[in-house]
Amino acid sequence: MIPPSAQSWTYAQNLIGEDQVLTQAREAAEEKKIPALSPGGGAFLRFLASSNDASNVVEVGTGVGISGVWLLRGMNPAGVLTSIDQDAQAQRIAKETFLKAGIEPTRTRLITGKALEVVSRLTDKAYDLILVAGDKLEYESLLEESTRLLRPGGILVFDNALNQDRVSNPRQQDAETIAIRNVGEKIREDERFISVLVANADGLLAAIYRPERAATLGA
Ligand SMILES: C[S@@+](CC[C@H](N)C(=O)[O-])C[C@H]1O[C@@H](n2cnc3c(N)ncnc32)[C@H](O)[C@@H]1O
Repeated sequence: MIPPSAQSWTYAQNLIGEDQVLTQAREAAEEKKIPALSPGGGAFLRFLASSNDASNVVEVGTGVGISGVWLLRGMNPAGVLTSIDQDAQAQRIAKETFLKAGIEPTRTRLITGKALEVVSRLTDKAYDLILVAGDKLEYESLLEESTRLLRPGGILVFDNALNQDRVSNPRQQDAETIAIRNVGEKIREDERFISVLVANADGLLAAIYRPERAATLGA
C-alpha cells in the first residue's frame, strides 16, 4: 500500500471544507495562538456525532469553538454540547463562533474550569459522545472519567493521538507522548471498547463503548 502523499493528505483535509464562520474562527485561533482541529478532523467529528444521533456531548478543550461547531452540526438538532476550557478568553470567542454559526444558545453549555474538576461532576452513563482535546497529561485520567460518563454505544475520541508524528517515533519519550501512547494501549486492551486510530488531522483515536460485549467475551 502506498501511504498518502502530502497532496492526497491536503485533498482529504479539505474535501468537505468549511464555511465562512469556521474560516473566520480559524483566523481568530491563529491570532490568539489557540490550536484548532483541521477541517478534515472536524468533518470526522460531525460524521461520528451523526452516526449515533448524539444528543448529549462533552468536549474537553473548547478552544475558539471550531470542533464544537462541527460536533453540533452532526448531533441531534435538539442536542446539547457541554464544552469545558480553562481559558475564559477562548470561550468568549467560541460563544461568538456558535452565535455566528446560528446555533441556539440553549444547545451549548460552556463551562470555564479545569477539565478533571468539571468532568468529575458530570453524570454517569449520560453521554453519547466525548471529545478529549485538552491537556495530554490528563488523557489517562480522562479515559477513566469518560468510561464512567459514556452510555453503552457512546463514542470516545482523543484528539492529537499522533501528536505531530511524535507518538509513532519510539525515540520520543516526553511525558505527553508517553501519556498518549498509554491511552492508545489501554483502549486497545479494554474489551469494552471497539477502537480505531484514524490518521486524520493530528490523529484521532476513536472508540465505541460496548460494555455488554466484554461481558459476553468474559462468559
Ligand atoms: C487544542 S485546543 C482545543 C481546540 C478545539 N477543540 C478546536 O478544535 O476548536 C486545547 C484547549 O484545551 C484547553 N485546556 C488545556 N488544558 C486544560 C485543562 N486542564 N482544563 C481545561 N481546559 C484545558 C486550552 O485552554 C485550549 O483552549
